Amino acid sequence: MEKLSRVGQAVQQKNAERQREENNKIQDEKLQLNQKMMAGEALDRRNIWEPSVYYALGKESFYFAGHDISIRESIDTYGALIWPGAVALCQFLENNQQQMNLMDKAVLEIGAGTGLLSIVASLLGAWVTATDLPEILSNLTFNLLRNTKGRSRYTPQVTALTWGQDLERDFPYPSYHYDYVLAADVVYHHDCLEALLDTMRHFCRPGSQTTLLWANKIRFQSDLRFTESFKSSFNTTLLAELPQQEVRIYKATAKE
Ligand SMILES: C[S@@+](CC[C@H](N)C(=O)[O-])C[C@H]1O[C@@H](n2cnc3c(N)ncnc32)[C@H](O)[C@@H]1O
Repeated sequence: MEKLSRVGQAVQQKNAERQREENNKIQDEKLQLNQKMMAGEALDRRNIWEPSVYYALGKESFYFAGHDISIRESIDTYGALIWPGAVALCQFLENNQQQMNLMDKAVLEIGAGTGLLSIVASLLGAWVTATDLPEILSNLTFNLLRNTKGRSRYTPQVTALTWGQDLERDFPYPSYHYDYVLAADVVYHHDCLEALLDTMRHFCRPGSQTTLLWANKIRFQSDLRFTESFKSSFNTTLLAELPQQEVRIYKATAKE
């Protein structure tokens, strides 16, 4: 009997060690991937022989709006990881529900990535449309559905939206009108900053009464330049600044 329990303990210990090694490996891979992203390395160098299925890099857990949220990340693209702007804006929305009441509001998220922010908006009672590049949508849909099914007032929608492309055709105003547009960490080293600003202007236009909430970690000089263009395009208020995370959250409305 004693021998058996010693064997059991040894097996348990071995399993715990294996789990620790696996976790360390995932953390290392994540760190390396983040470093590559920060160094601006292109991530679309996947070889033709590599499977196109998602490799589950990590599973992040959060607690917002009274619910446990579990997010599946993957390694293929920028949209596959949760970025600090999303976490900061989720926290802000949860803490400021009086000021930013999302209940029964139409909310659009651009560059939704893994979907954390859209999930939280949905759990806070909004009718959400989460958008991103076409290749991001399957993981986004997976995360949205598994975290909102049976929990949210409205089933969130997922649709492709490439910044600056076919906006008048696919999202004509005023048929596609949103009370809030959310954008988290959509500004980093990419060539679409002008298209991104056009997209923001498309949805947050004079007369629309739309409020745009943009949260971003400020990393590069180009982020500051974008911030200047953003400020001259809209009436803006700095809602929060998180020095530790280097994240700023802005509110913007159209210049009438
Ligand atoms: C840094 S990630 C942020 C993801 C998510 N908002 C977050 O904070 O966790 C930027 C997101 O913008 C999307 N994106 C980049 N370029 C885009 C474009 N031209 N049109 C639409 N989405 C784009 C990416 O696919 C990605 O999901």
